[in-house]
Amino acid sequence: MRKAMAEAEVGDDVLDGDPTVSQLEARACDWLGKEAALFVPSGTMANQIAIGVWTSPGDEIIVESSCHVLSYESGAIGALHGVQTRTLDGVRGALDPKAVAAAIRPDFVHCPPTSLICLEQTHMSSGGSVLPMECFEGVAAVGKDAGVPVHLDGARLAHATTASGLAAPLWTQHVASVSLCLSKGLGAPVGSVLAGDADFIERARRIRKRLGGWMRQSGVLAAPALLALGDGPDGGLAGIAPSHALAQDVAKALDAYSFLSADPGQVETNLVLCRVEVTDRTLGGAPELAERLTAAGVRVMALSPDTLRFVTHRDLNSTHVALLESTLVDLLGGA
Ligand SMILES: Cc1ncc(COP(=O)(O)O)c(C=O)c1O
Repeated sequence: MRKAMAEAEVGDDVLDGDPTVSQLEARACDWLGKEAALFVPSGTMANQIAIGVWTSPGDEIIVESSCHVLSYESGAIGALHGVQTRTLDGVRGALDPKAVAAAIRPDFVHCPPTSLICLEQTHMSSGGSVLPMECFEGVAAVGKDAGVPVHLDGARLAHATTASGLAAPLWTQHVASVSLCLSKGLGAPVGSVLAGDADFIERARRIRKRLGGWMRQSGVLAAPALLALGDGPDGGLAGIAPSHALAQDVAKALDAYSFLSADPGQVETNLVLCRVEVTDRTLGGAPELAERLTAAGVRVMALSPDTLRFVTHRDLNSTHVALLESTLVDLLGGA
C-alpha cells in the first residue's frame, strides 16, 4: 500500500478530478452495486453526509438504539443536521419491520416528519453480528410503503458478505444509500466511500464540501484503498475470512476464564465482546483490564464498564493470539 501511494497518479479532486479517486469510486460502485460513489475521509463523515442529504432540520430519523450513528458520532445528528432520533431496540442490531412501521410518524402538523431509517451491517455494539436478510427486506418494504429511504451504515459490510456468502449488492439493493469503511478490516490507511444513485451523490458532494471533506491530490489515499477493495489473493477482501477465524480463537482464549465471558457461538465476524466480572484477579472492570492489557502490548477497547471489545484484522495471525494468551496468564494467572 505504501508503494501504491508513492506511485499513485494524482490530479485535483476539487477541480477537474483525480484519476485514482475516480477509479476507486468506480470500483466501489461495482462492488456495492450502486450507480455512483464518493470518496470521503471517514465512516463518520460518510454516514453524516447521508443523513444530511436525506433530512431537513426538524425531521426525525429511526435508528437502532445502540447504533454507531447515534452513539459514537459525537452527537452529529443533532449538532450538524438539527434532526431528532426515534430509537428502537434491535435483536443483535436487527430492527423489527413491524416496529419500524409503527414508529413512522403520521403526516400531521404536530409531528416531526420521519425522513430516514438507518441500519448497520455488521452491528458493532452487538459484537459484529450479521443482520439477517429478512430484516433488510422487511425494513425496505416498510420504507417503500411510507416513502422513507433507508441508509445503511455498512462500515463492516465486507464482513457480512464474507460471513453470509451473499454479495454486497444483494444487501444494498434494499437501501437508498450505503457507507463502507476502507480503513477497517479491508486494511486501507484512510477513507470510506458513500454510494447511492447519481442524484444522491450529487447532493452528497455538496455536503462533503460543506463539511470540509473534499481532498485535492487524494489519489495518494485512493491508491491503497483500491488495494483494500481488491478481490485478488492479496486484496483486502481476502483478509476478511482469516480475521473471522482468528476472532473465534480470541473468544476461546478469553472464555476459558470463569470471570470472562466471550461465547465463541456469538462471534460471527471479527469483533469479540468480552464481559468482565469484577474479581480479585481482574482488579476492576473492563476499563481497568483494558488499561492493563494495553500496557502489556495487547491493545483493546473497553466498550462499557463491563465489556471489552477485541478486533481482529488482516495484519494479525496465530502468534498474536498466543501473545494474548500469555498476557492473560501474566496478568490474571492460569484459566
Ligand atoms: C459501525 C460503524 N460505523 C461507522 C464508523 C465510523 O468510522 P470512522 O472511524 O472511519 O469515522 C465506525 C467506526 O468504528 C463503526 O464501527
